[in-house]
Amino acid sequence: MTPSAPPIPRLATHVVNQLLAIKPLFNVAKHQARQMMVKRSATLGIDWYGEVAKLKSRGNEQSAFSPDWDKDFAAIANPNLHYPDYYLRPFHAYDQGNLSWQAATEVEVAAYAVHAWACAEDGAKGDAHLRQSYHDVVCKALPTTPQTIVDLGCGVGMSTFALQATFPDAEITGVDLSPYFVAVAQYQAQQKHLNIHWLHAAAEETPLPRASFDLVSVCLVYHELPQTAAIAILQEARRLLKPNGHLAIMDMNPHSEIYAKMPPYILTLLKSTEPYLDQYFALDLVKELKSAGFKTPLITANSLRHRTVLAQVH
Ligand SMILES: C[S@@+](CC[C@H](N)C(=O)[O-])C[C@H]1O[C@@H](n2cnc3c(N)ncnc32)[C@H](O)[C@@H]1O
Repeated sequence: MTPSAPPIPRLATHVVNQLLAIKPLFNVAKHQARQMMVKRSATLGIDWYGEVAKLKSRGNEQSAFSPDWDKDFAAIANPNLHYPDYYLRPFHAYDQGNLSWQAATEVEVAAYAVHAWACAEDGAKGDAHLRQSYHDVVCKALPTTPQTIVDLGCGVGMSTFALQATFPDAEITGVDLSPYFVAVAQYQAQQKHLNIHWLHAAAEETPLPRASFDLVSVCLVYHELPQTAAIAILQEARRLLKPNGHLAIMDMNPHSEIYAKMPPYILTLLKSTEPYLDQYFALDLVKELKSAGFKTPLITANSLRHRTVLAQVH
C-alpha cells in the first residue's frame, strides 16, 4: 500500500497558485523548468538537442525536418476529432501543449531527465526502471497474462513499447490525443519492427469496441487531467474491459513524502508546467474507481514518487 504522508501543505499550494496567476512570473517559471530539464539531461550524458535533431530529420542530414512527418501525420490524424478545452492549454512549457512537433520530438529526452533517480541512484536508466517497477507490480498481481492491452495516453510510445517488452505475445493498441505524438510512436515502432495498433483519439471516448481488452494501462497520464476527464477515462476503461479485466494506472504518488517536503520554488516550477496537478492530488481515485464499476483497487508505491493503482472490473 502507499505509505501515508500528508499531502502538499495547503498554504504552500495557495501561495504557489497566486504566484503562477501572474503571467510574467508564470513565464519565468515555465522557462526555468525547461532549462532545468535540458541541463539535467546534459548531466545524464544525454545530448538533448542532438537526439531531437536526429528524430526530426529521421537521420537524413539533408533536411532538418523530414517531409515524411507531414505524410505520417496526415495518415494518422483524425481530422474530425474534437479536442477538449483542457487539452488546449499550455503544458510542459510548450504554449501549444502536446499539439506540436517540438513537444513530440522532445518528449522522450524529457522523460529521461524527469525520471532520472525515480527509483534509486539510477540516473539515465531511471525511466526504464520506473516502467519496469510498474510492470513488476502489475505482473505480480494479475492472475493471468493479458492477451489484449490498450495503452491510453500512449504518448510517443514509450509506455507502449515497455508493455510490449513485458507482454510480448499480447496484441497492443496505443491511443493518444496528440496526432504528433501518435505519428512519432508509429515511426518509432516501425524502427523497432514492432506490430502495434495506433489510434488518434481521446481516451475518454475511443471508437474501440466494448469488452475487448484484458488490460487497460494508463501510464503517467492522470496527473495531466482535470477531474472530469480523469473520471470519464475510468468509465471508458470500464467499457473497454472484458469481464474480470484490469485497469492499471501508474502516476505520481500524492502521498509520497517527496511532494510533501518539496521546497516551494521547486513546486512552483513543477506546477508551471502541469496545470492540473492540484486536481490530480485532490482526486479520490478509490471512490471514483468504485463508482465507475471497479472493485477496491490494490495500491502499491512502485518508486519513491510513483504509485500503481490496479483495479479489477466488478
Ligand atoms: C506524460 S505523457 C505519458 C505518455 C506515455 N504514457 C508514457 O508513459 O510515456 C501523457 C500523455 O497523455 C496524453 N493525453 C492526455 N490527455 C489525454 C486524453 N484525454 N486522451 C488521450 N491522451 C491523452 C498526452 O497527449 C500525452 O501523450
